[in-house]
Amino acid sequence: MSSTYHHLFEPGRDPTKPPLLLLHGTGGDEHSLIELGHALSPGSALLSPRGDVNEHGALRFFRRLAEGVFDLEDVERRTHALADFLEAATKRHGLSSGSLVAVGFSNGANIAGTLLQLRPESLAGAVLFRSMVVLERPAPANSLQGRRVLLANGSVDPLVPPEHPARLAELLKAGGADVALRNFAAGHNLTAGDVSAAQEFLRK
Ligand code: MLT
Repeated sequence: MSSTYHHLFEPGRDPTKPPLLLLHGTGGDEHSLIELGHALSPGSALLSPRGDVNEHGALRFFRRLAEGVFDLEDVERRTHALADFLEAATKRHGLSSGSLVAVGFSNGANIAGTLLQLRPESLAGAVLFRSMVVLERPAPANSLQGRRVLLANGSVDPLVPPEHPARLAELLKAGGADVALRNFAAGHNLTAGDVSAAQEFLRK
């Protein structure tokens, strides 16, 4: 499988800000989260790949068999392909290896979660909006030590089962991640509360 992704890169303007890896949701593309990236961490470098799975015209980062039912072999393969791409792209764009903080929405948050579980060295931390448990696999002990993760979910989200955020938090904490769980009175779409929680998280 190729580990090249069509992507956008915007160089950072403020070296004190972490470079962000933007991972869009189903039906989005590399442009979808650019404005959010600017709002969350002004001056950060932005790396925004386009999902390479085409589901009836809607782009995403791995295959699913139905809503919430994932092709787990494909998830693993594409998680490794994305991690390989990130390694090459950070070098190519002059970023320090392992310095990217993922900002993912929905399917993009889900592959950010599997990156943390399977290729923890790829990310310095993550903001996961509306993520689910995709792989029932605890991160290996100590693999996520020193990494901060924000899980932001909606209390009336019709797509994310209500117990998933806490279960995903446990799978990541098994690797030593410092996980913050926030639950907003919201559905699947982001609210102003999500944005300010993520801004605050990224400022620390
Ligand atoms: C989506 O529509 O993107 C799902 O809710 C999440 C996923 O399929 O990974």
